[in-house]
Amino acid sequence: MSLDGKVILVTGAAKRIGRGIALRLAAEGARVAIHYHHSELEARQTARDCGNAELFQADLEKVAEIDRLFNDVAERFGRLDGLVNNAARFTRFNPLDITEQDWDFIHSVNLKAVFFCCQLGARLMLESGGGRIVNISSLGGIRPWADHAHYCASKAGVIMLTRALSKALAPAITVNSVAPGVIPFEDIDSAGKRLIEVTPAKRGGTPAEVADAVVYFLNASEFITGQVLAVDGGLSQR
Ligand SMILES: NC(=O)c1ccc[n+]([C@@H]2O[C@H](COP(=O)([O-])OP(=O)(O)OC[C@H]3O[C@@H](n4cnc5c(N)ncnc54)[C@H](OP(=O)(O)O)[C@@H]3O)[C@@H](O)[C@H]2O)c1
Repeated sequence: MSLDGKVILVTGAAKRIGRGIALRLAAEGARVAIHYHHSELEARQTARDCGNAELFQADLEKVAEIDRLFNDVAERFGRLDGLVNNAARFTRFNPLDITEQDWDFIHSVNLKAVFFCCQLGARLMLESGGGRIVNISSLGGIRPWADHAHYCASKAGVIMLTRALSKALAPAITVNSVAPGVIPFEDIDSAGKRLIEVTPAKRGGTPAEVADAVVYFLNASEFITGQVLAVDGGLSQR
C-alpha cells in the first residue's frame, strides 16, 4: 500500500499536531486537504509547505458546515481516500464547576463532529470503493484526568466510536485511533510538565511521532481496524 496520490483530509491541520500530520502525508505523496477553522494564516503556510495543498475552512461545531466541507472536498477532488479527525478542543475545569456550555463546548467538536465527519467521509469513500479513517483520541480517553472529566469522556467516546464504526464500515473502510500522550507546545502548563516527568520515555512526544502512527494506519490493510495506538512514551503503562 502507498499513500502516493491518495486524497486525505486532515481536520485542524493549520498548526501543531495537525500540521505535522499534513506535512508527513504530503511527504508520502498524498494529495492533502487542509482543514482549518480560525487559523487561516497558519493554514495557508501549511498548505504552501505541503506543495500548495487545497484549503478548506469550516466550523466543525455545526453539522451543516461539516456537510459543506465534505461537499467541497468532493467537488474539488471527486473522491476521498483517507480522513484524519484531528481537530479538537481542550479545557480544564473542576467537574463540580462544569456548566452545560462547558460540556457542549468540548463535546460538540471532540465527539459530535468526529462522528459526523466519519459519517460523511465514509459516504464519500464508499463512492470509490472504500478508504481509511484515523481518529486522534488521547491518553485522556484511556486514563482518567481529574480536571478534564468532560474532555476525557469525549476522547473515550472517540475510542468507542472508532471501535463501533470499524465494525459498521468493514471491510471497505478501516477505522483506527491514535492516542497521543503529552505532545508539548509553548503553552504547556505545570500539569503537562508533571506528566512529562513521569513519562517512562523521560520526554514529551512530537507531532512527527504522532504522524508516524497515523501513516501506519493509513497504509495498513483492511485486517487492521478498530485499534487504538497510544503514542505516549509509555505513560499509559504507569
Ligand atoms: N497536544 C497534546 O499534548 C495532545 C495530547 C493528547 C491528545 N491530543 C489530541 O491531538 C489532536 C491535536 O492536538 P493539538 O494540541 O495539536 O490540538 P489543538 O491545537 O488544540 O487543536 C487543533 C485544531 O483544532 C481546530 N478546531 C478547534 N475547534 C474547532 C472547530 N469548532 N471547528 C473546526 N476546527 C476546530 C483548531 O483549528 P483553528 O486553529 O484553525 O481554529 C485547532 O488548530 C487533538 O485531537 C487533541 O485532542 C493532543
